[in-house]
Amino acid sequence: MLYDFEFYNPTKIYFGKESLNNLKTELNHYGKNILFVYGGGSIKKIGLYDSIIKILQETSKNVFELAGVMPNPTYEKMMEGAHLIEKHHIDFILAVGGGSVIDCAKGISVAAYQKNPWEKYWINHEDVLHEVIPVGSVLTMVGTGSEMNGGSVITNEEKKLKKGRVFPQKVYPKFSILDPKITYSVPKYQMLSGIFDIFSHLMEQYFSNQDDNVSDDLLEALMKSLIKNTYKAIKDPCNYEARSNIEWISTLALNGLTEVSKTQDWQVHSIEHQLGAYTDCAHGMGLAAISVPYYRFLLSFAPQKFAQFAVNVFQVETKNRSVEEVAKMGIDALAKFIKDTGMCSTLKELNATREMLPLIAASTDLGGGYHDLTQQEVLQILESCYE
Ligand code: NZQ
Ligand code: ZN
Repeated sequence: MLYDFEFYNPTKIYFGKESLNNLKTELNHYGKNILFVYGGGSIKKIGLYDSIIKILQETSKNVFELAGVMPNPTYEKMMEGAHLIEKHHIDFILAVGGGSVIDCAKGISVAAYQKNPWEKYWINHEDVLHEVIPVGSVLTMVGTGSEMNGGSVITNEEKKLKKGRVFPQKVYPKFSILDPKITYSVPKYQMLSGIFDIFSHLMEQYFSNQDDNVSDDLLEALMKSLIKNTYKAIKDPCNYEARSNIEWISTLALNGLTEVSKTQDWQVHSIEHQLGAYTDCAHGMGLAAISVPYYRFLLSFAPQKFAQFAVNVFQVETKNRSVEEVAKMGIDALAKFIKDTGMCSTLKELNATREMLPLIAASTDLGGGYHDLTQQEVLQILESCYE
């Protein structure tokens, strides 16, 4: 059944091969001073930087730049952007990049003109009562869903904390431009990291509740489509059909649609965030390594749901098998998908050391769905996928 819910997503999406053409019209809705935020240089290599600058010149904007937003964006970098907003009276933030750039842009939009934003918004999760600087995005790498949500995940290097926050709708991008061709140049490792991030978003919503819920039907369909298109994209990274399907699955996976009436269990993300704080690993690769041991651990608390996943997502044969056997085969199939596609399955591959594991476990936010994890259980999970 569906519990009562509200659903509203204010981000306008322009999707497709000609979608960048809409940037000019969109920019005309905002003031003169633009902060152009981007990453470490990939947009210059693929010529996108020049195209954006041309559009900004055609709209007669005053352009200020924040370059070098790193994967797992830091609080320090975000505050550099917030100071630019104040110094140049910025009217609009244009984020061109993957989740890190867009998350950083949203963080800047909230943090500008505020005192102690880290404590206020990422630790105490205070409501955002002030006006924020509007953000728009051109997405270059898929996975996080940041293009159509209020998420902003920031790493505080000094405190060794990577903290996510979902901001209210006024912080969502006003528009996001999604051209799948722009994602062709994403290196295979990053493409796979993004794909597992999507898979994890889908699973973390799916493995909650046990009733008949249309959100689960949607989640199963998206997981199946993601698996099929992943194999196509690995074979041919410039396959528009595969890349466009993956890109839209990614957006749908975390824009609020599939979480309707689901309690959700974001424990894998919580563990990965602290793994990331200690190793700076690619987000999706960290999730891939943690997921198999986590779901093997969780299986006995909801065998029926895991069996449903096995059958509906990985087409596991049920004949002459118990629910528990089928459920286990579903997680075996997930592990095979991770291995066959070349995603990470150990923490050692992500440069974690054994000494880090207790520190990661001790700083992980605890929660859960079918079972509430303890710090000791987090440590067991980390140890079981170390090497
Ligand atoms: O920095 P550049 O040079 O641009 O290179 C980037 C970066 O090195 C490269 N890249 C991006 N587009 C490219 C490209 N290289 C070639 N061609 C292109 N078209 O890819 C690398 C990774 O980029 P990044 O933005 O870091 O990846 P991703 O999109 O996976 O973002 C990860 C961050 O998002 C957070 C993660 O925790 C992590 O900090 N998340 C945000 C969420 C949200 N907003 O809702 C939810 C997620 O669960 C996640 O936690
Ligand atoms: Zn994620």
